[in-house]
Amino acid sequence: MDLWTAAASRLSLRSPARVAARMSAFARAERGSQLDMLLAASQTQDLTLASQFLRHAHDESRHARAFANRARELGEDGWIHADGGRLLRQLGPAKFLAFVHQGEARAIQRFLVIQDTLTQNGDTRSAAIFGALLDDETRHASYTRTALDSVAENPAAELRNARRWSLWQGYRRLTASTAKGLHDAGAWLLYLSLFPLAFWLRWVRPVRSGWVESAPERGPQ
Ligand SMILES: [Fe+2]
Ligand SMILES: [Fe+2]
Repeated sequence: MDLWTAAASRLSLRSPARVAARMSAFARAERGSQLDMLLAASQTQDLTLASQFLRHAHDESRHARAFANRARELGEDGWIHADGGRLLRQLGPAKFLAFVHQGEARAIQRFLVIQDTLTQNGDTRSAAIFGALLDDETRHASYTRTALDSVAENPAAELRNARRWSLWQGYRRLTASTAKGLHDAGAWLLYLSLFPLAFWLRWVRPVRSGWVESAPERGPQ
């Protein structure tokens, strides 16, 4: 993933506007994660795990604000709109912990690469945000792995299941965005190909617009 993230980072962080858009995307992801953690805390019977979920939610809230503030400094509106909160119910406790653990581990690698790219680009202020969040993400990856080991009979199988589920979600997102792209391209193609026909019809059958005078009434003859 490092090579892919490095290449994608170089492309997606080339200008302040692109950095701002990326910051906004991270703010949404962190806010979504916060909502998932809050609901997870409310649904677990294990008080230690509930307190770890709550601390995690608090961390993600800070992360979301940090990214949104930087996005605002770079010209975005900084509004954070995110969905979340359904993951635990959807996956069950073991797969949820496996999924969150993998997401946090991926975030650490991604943050390191993006921090490096931003530093090379001279945007040390944005780079510092990623650096400041790394300790939190490392703690999130660590406690979710420990909790997974205590909850799951076969943690390795749960990690495999979570990876498959994550790949399936990525595939669904890709097909949805591809379908939307094809739909938009098809609509434009149809519009552009029908334009000459519409122009010709307008020319051969001009539409009368504005006030239309009625025919003068005929008097008795
Ligand atoms: Fe985070
Ligand atoms: Fe995290």
